[in-house]
Amino acid sequence: MSVQRTELLYEGKAKKVYATADPELHVIEYKDDATAFNAQKRGSIAGKGEVNAAVATRIFEFLAEAGVPTHLEALLSPREQLVKAVRIVPLEVVVRNRAAGSFAKRYGVPEGGELDPVVVEWCLKDDALGDPMLNDAAAVALGIVTPEELETLFELTAEVNDLLKPFFAARGLDLIDFKLEFGVDPDGAIVLADEISPDTCRLWDSATGDKLDKDRFRRDLGGVEEAYQEVRARVLTRTEQDAEIVREHVAEREAWELGEAHVGHSHGGANDQDHQHPHAGAGRHTSAGARGDAGARTFNAVVDVMLRRSILDPQGRAVEATVRRLGHGNVRGVRVGKRITFAIDGELAEVEAQVAALATDLLSNPVMEDVQVELEPAAG
Ligand code: TMP
Repeated sequence: MSVQRTELLYEGKAKKVYATADPELHVIEYKDDATAFNAQKRGSIAGKGEVNAAVATRIFEFLAEAGVPTHLEALLSPREQLVKAVRIVPLEVVVRNRAAGSFAKRYGVPEGGELDPVVVEWCLKDDALGDPMLNDAAAVALGIVTPEELETLFELTAEVNDLLKPFFAARGLDLIDFKLEFGVDPDGAIVLADEISPDTCRLWDSATGDKLDKDRFRRDLGGVEEAYQEVRARVLTRTEQDAEIVREHVAEREAWELGEAHVGHSHGGANDQDHQHPHAGAGRHTSAGARGDAGARTFNAVVDVMLRRSILDPQGRAVEATVRRLGHGNVRGVRVGKRITFAIDGELAEVEAQVAALATDLLSNPVMEDVQVELEPAAG
């Protein structure tokens, strides 16, 4: 493919981004330059640009096959990719399957310990501030993302981890941790962006535990170029498991989406219609007689709260793993939530509005949780 790159739009520590004649497309050029510790350590890794371009391309293509939206269009040359022109969300999302790096240092634990549940951390992408850590509320309050974007971003992050762990395992590599970045495409959709490579992952050889990633550069371990070449060779080798990993993932997502559709989707939030009108379930459980009844009476309210970021729901995942291990391999998409019940006195219309407001404002966290309300007249 020949695409003419035009002006240099941005130069980062490991990549350059160029415009093209098409405003919706950019070219990324991968450099051999390497930095660590917020660029306090600088160097170069011969051949790194080509390795990372090839590795990131293969991985993004694999993820796209499994339905993960990405910015990648094509590999143009050994160190250039054609990508969608996206607005990069200034967050670095780090996924940790095992303790290592700054996590091990921060909490004083040895490297290599399994993390259960998987730990997701995210930082503001700002070198001048030293990439400070954020949480949900800070990311939303600072105007970096909307709660909906955050939700999408974390669902995609969980999907990427679910896909990449077995992808690397099939190549004799343990995915210890990695960093993702996302972009917003011209239609407003969140897509996976930046790169996934030995620069942005920790990869340990499954048999020997050898580090095959940028830690060899960060920690002056030697054999840096060889490690990058080794990762390229393994990633570019097709394995029999690849298609199976994609198939299982797609089946799991479909099961989960079915569960979602069944549970219903009543997002909390001040602008949400559901705020004023409780979930349809309220109507279903409220008899026509009660509706016609003016005057106060007692209702039983049931408020169900579920983590929105359900793929990362650690309790649901733990229950599912146990259930499946015990022989119920046909169970998928387990989610664990909480139910709050109470009695409330008043007229139906008032009570409906009051319970809906309570549910979204006090009983759940609209950034992280979905809420559903049911009301029925108390017996007697
Ligand atoms: P950390 O343990 O140093 O916080 O790194 C966690 C993971 O994130 C590791 O796989 C390396 C990757 N990473 C980047 O891709 N870019 C960065 O700037 C940093 C600090 C980490």
